Amino acid sequence: MISNNSDFEIFKNLLFASFRSDDLKIYLDNSATSYPKPECVYDAVNVYMRENGASPGRGNYANAMASDKLVYETRKTIAKLLGAKKPSEIVFTSNATEAINIVLKGYLKNGDGVLTSNIEHNAMWRPLKNLENNRGVQISYFSVAKDGKVDLDEIADKLTENIKLVAFVHGSNVLGNIIPVAEISKLAHSKNIPVLIDASQTAGAYPINVIEDGIDFLAFTGHKSLLGPTGTGGFYIRSGLQLDTLKEGGTGSMAKSPFQPELPPDRFEAGTMNIFGIAGLKAAVDYIQDIGVSNILSHERWLLDRLLCGLKEIPDIEIYGSMNPDEKLGLVSFNIGNNDPYKIASKLDEEHGIMVRAGLHCAPQAHKIIGTDEKGAVRASVGFFNTEEHIDLLLETLQNNKNK
Ligand code: ALA
Repeated sequence: MISNNSDFEIFKNLLFASFRSDDLKIYLDNSATSYPKPECVYDAVNVYMRENGASPGRGNYANAMASDKLVYETRKTIAKLLGAKKPSEIVFTSNATEAINIVLKGYLKNGDGVLTSNIEHNAMWRPLKNLENNRGVQISYFSVAKDGKVDLDEIADKLTENIKLVAFVHGSNVLGNIIPVAEISKLAHSKNIPVLIDASQTAGAYPINVIEDGIDFLAFTGHKSLLGPTGTGGFYIRSGLQLDTLKEGGTGSMAKSPFQPELPPDRFEAGTMNIFGIAGLKAAVDYIQDIGVSNILSHERWLLDRLLCGLKEIPDIEIYGSMNPDEKLGLVSFNIGNNDPYKIASKLDEEHGIMVRAGLHCAPQAHKIIGTDEKGAVRASVGFFNTEEHIDLLLETLQNNKNK
């Protein structure tokens, strides 16, 4: 458990200084976006905006070169976090959705088969359905059970000759389970099929090593568990793999050529980059490296354990996914009796300042397997800056309100 670091203290002081104790705000929607950010992230964006605004790779004056260096250093930092061999294997995009679109649409050709899971977020599912309609891509699904488990034999059986890519979410934003990447990629690689992982919920919150886990493409977002600003994200592409481009334009390199550069990262980074976001992302990932991903995971699981233990005492509650915190990310979805999940979430916020997300969480497929695709569910998701007190206040509030 982490409870004694300077950012945590700053956050706590800020909360207690800005609100009276009876209007303390509690943020438990970290699966949507992490909040607050480490203090160093605010500082990095502020300093960068004030002291250097130059576009990276677009000039030979000192500030432009400093911007370029910042982008390179950020690639290097993220490459290290993910266990990639080279910084050039990290491409920046505006979010994980863009990254997934680039990989799927750049890789899958007319009539190709793709194997995915039955719990995908719309960031994966919608581009796949678009490819099904427009390129005749054939989608096969492997099953994730209600408790988050997968059947490796079923996956092996579904890796038929037509499958050209295996693409799935690493950690579910509804069930919280982790899909075993290394085992699945071993099966896929035995048939020379590459693997794309959607690490939106896991990058920064769960240990990832693209080499050891056998990952060929990995999409990440900067603003969730990487603790950076919105508008940042990207993907890892294993050296040697090639993709068609989704967009073309200026990259600051090979300017005379009418064609997009062949090699990543430039190939996929047309247009001026979100350099202020990158500055914040660099600070965020440095911060995560200092704390250690496994320490962050233990803190969040420790909070989740407390949350699960308390929730199961609430009459009429239905909790979705595994009850074992060691199998999950720090989130839990639930319903209480016949209550409308949206009403529960509004009431938690309006009356008690507790922020959770209700509904389908942009993942109707995951809700379908737990039978909540009509009604939705309430989801509480913890982050590194949440405390025991936040969990206890949520539990106390749900207990007190259960019959109202
Ligand atoms: N996928 C994000 C969530 O789970 C938006 O809330």
